[in-house]
Amino acid sequence: MMRLSECQKTLIPQIESGLQAFFNAQDFGSSALLKEMLAFHMGWLDASGRGKRLRPLITLLCTAALGGEVQSGLPAALAVEFLHNFTLIHDDIEDRSPIRHGRETIWKRWGEAQAINAGDALFSIAQLALLDLAQTVSPSTAVKAGRQFNQTCLRLTRGQHLDIAFETAQDISVDAYLDMIQGKTGALIAFSAVVAGIIMEKSQGELDHLNAFGSNLGLAFQVQDDILGIWGDPGITGKSAASDLLSRKKTLPVLFGLKNSPEFLQSWSDRAVEPQRVVQMAALLEDCGAREFAIQKAQDHTAEAFKALETLFPGANQDNGPAQALLDLSHFLLMRRS
Ligand code: IPE
Ligand code: IPE
Ligand code: MG
Ligand code: MG
Repeated sequence: MMRLSECQKTLIPQIESGLQAFFNAQDFGSSALLKEMLAFHMGWLDASGRGKRLRPLITLLCTAALGGEVQSGLPAALAVEFLHNFTLIHDDIEDRSPIRHGRETIWKRWGEAQAINAGDALFSIAQLALLDLAQTVSPSTAVKAGRQFNQTCLRLTRGQHLDIAFETAQDISVDAYLDMIQGKTGALIAFSAVVAGIIMEKSQGELDHLNAFGSNLGLAFQVQDDILGIWGDPGITGKSAASDLLSRKKTLPVLFGLKNSPEFLQSWSDRAVEPQRVVQMAALLEDCGAREFAIQKAQDHTAEAFKALETLFPGANQDNGPAQALLDLSHFLLMRRS
């Protein structure tokens, strides 16, 4: 993993200082508490509780792998991370999740109404960050990036809509599930890669390969999130290991269990899932092979992401450090525990 860790060592501090500088340059006027809520969520008030900054890392690695300067990719990198955090704030309200990054979520601490406002502020900050692209690329390229960014927001919201709708729906197919996670998670991870190609004014063919890379990585990432949402260690994920089952999320292991384990189906259908039954339900899923099935799915999508990378950067193993780091990153995400 040396290749990835070397890139991370130089890129993560640039992402972090870029995010903080952009955020601090915004005018919060007399609403100091709004600024504090956002700084808390972004993990800037104390040493703990920060996200992985995965999406901006993908943008900068793709920009560099395509031969661009880090500086030219930075506005888009900041935009995807701000946008991601906007979605987390709203997602935690929608999912009624009390814990993220190992501590209280914004809505839990300051109430839903102010959490919605905090999310909206980050959404606007994301749009402003992206507009800084106009300083380094042509106006038509900046507009192309802006259009794609907002199409991504729409896909993401559509995915979030389906995620909530599926909580109470019967008979969700694996294909319907994949369509839902492609929206809620795949779209933004795909954009994180594609925007690098837009900035570098690459051909539509190359943009399509970047999209295939990011989408498949995003699908694998969400399936892994589903696995961690049932069997993860809350001390490492920073999130509850019970809330997906408690809120009746149709995650991939659950869909598999509903089809393949009569005991799980019975337990799921009997009555509302109570906290004391979560451990037993996770065991039923494990016993029927739901975890193995999900792991295999994540591996399949990672293999697809590798294929797209190989097409984009043939022989990436030789001389393209950032392309090598993207390979490492895809591999590393499969084994992640947080
Ligand atoms: C969490 O994403 C939401 C999903 C799409 C599963 P991350 O796991 O990338 O979140 P942070 O930013 O690192 O906390
Ligand atoms: C992931 O949602 C997608 C977004 C946040 C838009 P989840 O609800 O599956 O992710 P976690 O587990 O809360 O991070
Ligand atoms: Mg959630
Ligand atoms: Mg959710």
